[in-house]
Formats: sequence, structure tokens, C-alpha cells
Amino acid sequence: MNKTVFITGAAKRIGKEIALSFKELGWNIIIHYNSSKEDALNLAKEINNANKNTAITVQGNLDVKEDVNAIIKEVLDAFPSIDLLINNASTFYPTPIDDISEEHWEKLVGSNLKGPLFLIQGLKQKLKESKGSIINITDTNLSKGVANYSIYSAAKAGLESITKGLARELAPEIKVNAIAPGAMLEPPDVTWTEEQKSKVIESIPLKRMGSEKDIAEAVNFLAHSQYITGQIIKVDGGRSL
Ligand SMILES: NC(=O)c1ccc[n+]([C@@H]2O[C@H](COP(=O)([O-])OP(=O)(O)OC[C@H]3O[C@@H](n4cnc5c(N)ncnc54)[C@H](OP(=O)(O)O)[C@@H]3O)[C@@H](O)[C@H]2O)c1
Repeated sequence: MNKTVFITGAAKRIGKEIALSFKELGWNIIIHYNSSKEDALNLAKEINNANKNTAITVQGNLDVKEDVNAIIKEVLDAFPSIDLLINNASTFYPTPIDDISEEHWEKLVGSNLKGPLFLIQGLKQKLKESKGSIINITDTNLSKGVANYSIYSAAKAGLESITKGLARELAPEIKVNAIAPGAMLEPPDVTWTEEQKSKVIESIPLKRMGSEKDIAEAVNFLAHSQYITGQIIKVDGGRSL
């Protein structure tokens, strides 16, 4: 029987690359999206062309509890097992202290912390049955403190914290880990100047930006590991050293 992975925010960028890496392994792939319907459908088509009937899409806004409940139901009904949940979806934008509103809080915490937590709650029984695992995607910059990103940072720090707590709570059946990317891609809808890019690259010991493939590679490593849980793996070219 094929294994099944459920990836949130998988229509584009890092999530898409992760999905394509599981296509190579012949897994069933549940592609979650919120607004990128066309990208998600095209990705599912590409995967199904390679491996028949292995990819489906699921839509939902992770800020909205009713949507999260509906996503859980669809995911539970989709394939016989769930072996891996990847909490990859994320909203990312600055919130200088004087501009913070509850709306910003709901948005940044919804996708980066609350949504992932309730997805884990809803899918844990099926993950237990398959002795599966959970990978939360966080952010390597948290440890240094990032000005103007207090809500995003708090949400990702919360996600790292529940990674460790749930690694204990859901053991021995489910392994729970996180991957903390460094500077991989420019934020969506942002283009850095050459000067900005050079400055970032200068701060990275491995002297390049990361790529989607670097994250997919780490995800695949964790997906196949049998004796790692509660760990945060930094994939950042050494930037956080
Ligand atoms: N890119 C980097 O350099 C970098 C650095 C550090 C950490 N990370 C982390 O790595 C992961 C992937 O990064 P990325 O840059 O590929 O992510 P991204 O493009 O910023 O976001 C991935 C997807 O998240 C979905 N999303 C956002 N808000 C949502 C909501 N409320 N409900 C449901 N889905 C929502 C969006 O789906 P739709 O498009 O369908 O709306 C989006 O395509 C993220 O967790 C990010 O925080 C990335």
C-alpha cells in the first residue's frame, strides 16, 4: 500500500517542491491550498500523470476553525492511511509594534500556529495507526530576534515549542520534528535588489541562498528516519551559527 503525505500550502514554492519529491517516491499526496487553486490543480495533474490517482487537492483557510475541521474530514476520507503531516503553510509580513491589531494576530497565528495545532489534533489518531510522523516548518531567524516581526516570530516559536511538547506526548507512535529554513526564497511578491541579496549571501557561511530542494531533501530525510523526534533541524547554510 502506498504511503500518504498531507502538505499544507503545497501549491507553490517550497510546499510544491516537497510534493514533487514525494511524487518521485510514489506516495499518495494530499495538496492543500488556500487561494492558489489553479497552481494546486496543475500540480495534482502533473503528479497524477506520473502516478495515476495518487494526488488530490484540499482547499481551506487555516485561520478559520470551520475550514480546518473540513480539511481534517477530507484528509481522513482521502486515502486508507496518513503517514506524514507537513505543516508548511504560512503567512509572513511585518507588524511593527504600533501597527499591531487583533486582525494581524489572527492571521499570523492562524496559519503559523493555531491551524497546525488543530490539524495535528484532528489527524493524530490516523497518524498513530500508521506510526507516522509530523514535520512542522518553522524559521531559523527566530533565535536571533527579528525586529518588526514579533507576531510571526511568536507564532513560529510557538510551533517549535509544540513540536517538542508533542514529540513527548505523541510518542512512541508518532515522531514530531521541525525544519527551520534560513534565507531560501524572497518573500512572495517581494523582489530584493542585487545589493540586498548580496548582503544576505554574505551572512551565510555556505555563500548561497537556500533553495526549495534543500528543504525537500531535509523533509525526506526526516520522513524516513526512525529514531529522531522533538528536533528542530536548521537548514540555513550555517547562517544561524
Ligand atoms: N521562503 C523562505 O525563505 C523561508 C524562510 C524561513 C522559513 N520559511 C518557511 O517555510 C515554509 C514555506 O515557505 P514559502 O516561502 O514557500 O511559503 P509561502 O509561499 O509564503 O506560503 C506557502 C503557502 O501558505 C499558504 N497560506 C498562507 N496563509 C494561509 C492560510 N491562512 N490558510 C491556508 N494556507 C495559507 C498559501 O497558500 P495559497 O497560495 O494557496 O493561498 C501559500 O502559498 C513556510 O512555513 C515559511 O514560513 C520560508
